[in-house]
Amino acid sequence: MKPGAALMRHYLQFKDFRAEEYAYLFERTGIIKKRFKNYEKYTPLVDRTLAMIFEKASTRTRVSFEAGMYQMGGSVVHLTTGDSQLGRAEPVEDSARVISRMVDIVMIRTYEQSKIERFAAHSRVPVINGLTNEYHPCQILADIYTYIEHRGSIAGKVVAWVGDGNNMAHTWLQAAEILGFTVHISTPSGYEVNLDVAGLRSSDCFKVFKDPLEACREADLVTTDVWTSMGYEAENEARRTAFVDWCVDAEMMAAAKPDALFMHCLPAHRGEEVAADVIDGPHSVVWDEAENRMHVQKALMEYLLLGRIG
Ligand code: CP
Ligand code: NVA
Repeated sequence: MKPGAALMRHYLQFKDFRAEEYAYLFERTGIIKKRFKNYEKYTPLVDRTLAMIFEKASTRTRVSFEAGMYQMGGSVVHLTTGDSQLGRAEPVEDSARVISRMVDIVMIRTYEQSKIERFAAHSRVPVINGLTNEYHPCQILADIYTYIEHRGSIAGKVVAWVGDGNNMAHTWLQAAEILGFTVHISTPSGYEVNLDVAGLRSSDCFKVFKDPLEACREADLVTTDVWTSMGYEAENEARRTAFVDWCVDAEMMAAAKPDALFMHCLPAHRGEEVAADVIDGPHSVVWDEAENRMHVQKALMEYLLLGRIG
């Protein structure tokens, strides 16, 4: 992208886009996914390069961005803390200035949100959040697309969040406010969502429940995540005790609507945050959810690099 030539946008939090932009992205995702399934070539990003910077582990984010960029005709550079100067204390601002002179778009997975914001502030090209301690917008983009694919619009629906008040939970809250649904949140005491991090305009889009079973009652979608997110491993033992009742099981799914979906961003730990018969059972759409990471991110990169098509 020529610096200053187009309206440059970053995707650092779910609330960076408006509802009508999400409607556009979901429409494009459907078109792009259909082409992929029909083995039709679609290469609008020829000669474009994506830099992916990982300061934490990944399977889905790496494969979905890398495969997606190649499918669109572009190429990818993969950096980690250990094999770049980021791990040797080169300032993030300097890294942003340099990397963004050589590539067209950057995806970063890191710890503090402030780090990706500092990178974006010094980048000449769009920056995408591939997960931070605070948010995981690409995952919620895929989750909502998956909901729409299976059940239609998510507006007015109830999403039950059972587990840690973490990056996924904050992002669900932002999505609820923008797209007009409600989140029923149940977390163990001491692991609540941080409303300052969620940064909502009002409290209309969520309800807090002490009992995870009550949070699931009449829900359209039940979702959870690992008890210990990346970067919090030192708390593992304490969390294993605190979260023991926050395992999505068959009883919770039975309390939800009969056609409720189950989602998990993965990786999952069967027998901890989710029972095996739920994640491997008839309500679960976790494999579609994982695959859709690639399709939504292709639409996202197309949008950030080329704007609206047609
Ligand atoms: N859900 C998700 O982001 O998976 P990875 O950590 O494997 O990228
Ligand atoms: N909350 C998890 C999500 C992993 C995809 C983490 O941050 O580790």
